[in-house]
Amino acid sequence: MSKGPGVQIMFDSIAGRYDLMNRVMTMGQDQKWRRFVVKMAGDPGNGWTLDLATGTGDIASLMADTWPEAQTVGSDFSLNMLRQAGKRFGYTKTSWQACDANCLPFGDESFASVTFGYLLRNVDDSLRVLKEVRRVLKPGGRVVCLDTTPPAKNIFYPFVRFYFRFGIPVLGKLIADDESAYAYLTGSTMGFYEAEKLAELFRRAGFVDVDYKKFMLGTIGVHWGEKPLL
Ligand SMILES: C[S@@+](CC[C@H](N)C(=O)[O-])C[C@H]1O[C@@H](n2cnc3c(N)ncnc32)[C@H](O)[C@@H]1O
Repeated sequence: MSKGPGVQIMFDSIAGRYDLMNRVMTMGQDQKWRRFVVKMAGDPGNGWTLDLATGTGDIASLMADTWPEAQTVGSDFSLNMLRQAGKRFGYTKTSWQACDANCLPFGDESFASVTFGYLLRNVDDSLRVLKEVRRVLKPGGRVVCLDTTPPAKNIFYPFVRFYFRFGIPVLGKLIADDESAYAYLTGSTMGFYEAEKLAELFRRAGFVDVDYKKFMLGTIGVHWGEKPLL
């Protein structure tokens, strides 16, 4: 069965508490990673830039503020998340649009850059989404992806595993009143691609100059790449 409908319902139900939970769960680090995403996406000039799975709009809004000449679109399939984005950042600098990342309603070669935070863990077929992103990017356009990464088995592993297994679901219960949504975050992180494997998937989708950087004891990864010019 497809993950999509369940994921959509889950994000619709936690939309109101999503930002607070993010700040607490990441100990205030999450905006730093989003700023890094925007930096790696680079300046789109006066072209179009797309933030997929924009949620409550943080990455899209940082893009719009950092590159005011650009035309910024923030899209998501959860209408409640998009409503929060509109409430937080208004409707002038960014255009908020409902759509499913599996099947983008945009023409080929429309965007100078495409970003997404915490999307790929939530889809059935990451390669399909990456190919769809490649389709809508202009040649030379940049893709940047922020997501959780399964923790490496190093000296921090027992602590990190404990935090993911117990700390995050408990915070989810206390702050978002939804333990299962945050237990899902733990499960989907542990089952997700390791950073190097995800980089390989970007290459299989046809991106070049692919690389990544890890944050927060290796539990967060930012991957980037470029659509070849030819
Ligand atoms: C964890 S939130 C991330 C929000 C935001 N990018 C951020 O940095 O906080 C994941 C978002 O992905 C959206 N999402 C998941 N699967 C999607 C899909 N197939 N198409 C569009 N949005 C999707 C969810 O609705 C949710 O808003």
